[in-house]
Amino acid sequence: MVLSEEVSRFVRAAGPDHTDVQTRMADFARDHDFPNIGPESGAVLRLLARLTDADTVFEFGSGFGYSASWFLRGGADRVVLTEFDADELDQGRRFMADAGLADRCVFEQGDAMETVERYDGPFDVVLIDHQKERYADAFRAVREKLAPGGVVAADNVMRGPIDFDALLASLDGDAGALDAGTDQTRGIAAYLDAVRDDDLFETAVLPVGSGLAVSTNTA
Ligand SMILES: C[S@@+](CC[C@H](N)C(=O)[O-])C[C@H]1O[C@@H](n2cnc3c(N)ncnc32)[C@H](O)[C@@H]1O
Repeated sequence: MVLSEEVSRFVRAAGPDHTDVQTRMADFARDHDFPNIGPESGAVLRLLARLTDADTVFEFGSGFGYSASWFLRGGADRVVLTEFDADELDQGRRFMADAGLADRCVFEQGDAMETVERYDGPFDVVLIDHQKERYADAFRAVREKLAPGGVVAADNVMRGPIDFDALLASLDGDAGALDAGTDQTRGIAAYLDAVRDDDLFETAVLPVGSGLAVSTNTA
């Protein structure tokens, strides 16, 4: 375990409570074994929307809208939700309608990598939370579409469908550490390389939830 359960409990207890609809979303996720971003990272998404005074947030991989609900709580005027799975997106529509937030959501069914091509930006915040092996491509797709001071957050950089120990060894300089690993772990490594090597961006990794890499556009 990357973060001790006690520390996670502390962060959750000291952080914001769920709204009623978020409680239902969390219950739905638990019942369907669905990996949403969780309340620890959700609180950070809310903060990012608030700090950037976000007009538009774009998400790669929205599920049924749990992460989007945190951006909306942070005052985002509009969140673009993208999702392969039509049933998940329909469930998201229902939750957002119940929360009175549907008019601030744009629901886009299909491949997020294609959807993003139809948007010019500017995006104030982008969440990358879809296929791990496509994270670096997602960053490249939005890099020029970010508002000055805009933020890209990527989930699962420390936990989830990835090998934490291999990733750590690679970051520590073991060149072969990822050779036997999965495409997902290599995808996260490639993503971290892409944002850390980019002179226009400053990146901090926050060990909340499954690990969030937060990169700000310094333009
Ligand atoms: C980890 S879940 C997203 C959870 C969501 N961000 C939240 O915290 O509530 C990943 C979702 O991305 C979707 N997905 C994966 N690849 C995608 C793609 N290329 N385009 C659109 N959706 C994708 C999956 O169907 C899945 O629902």
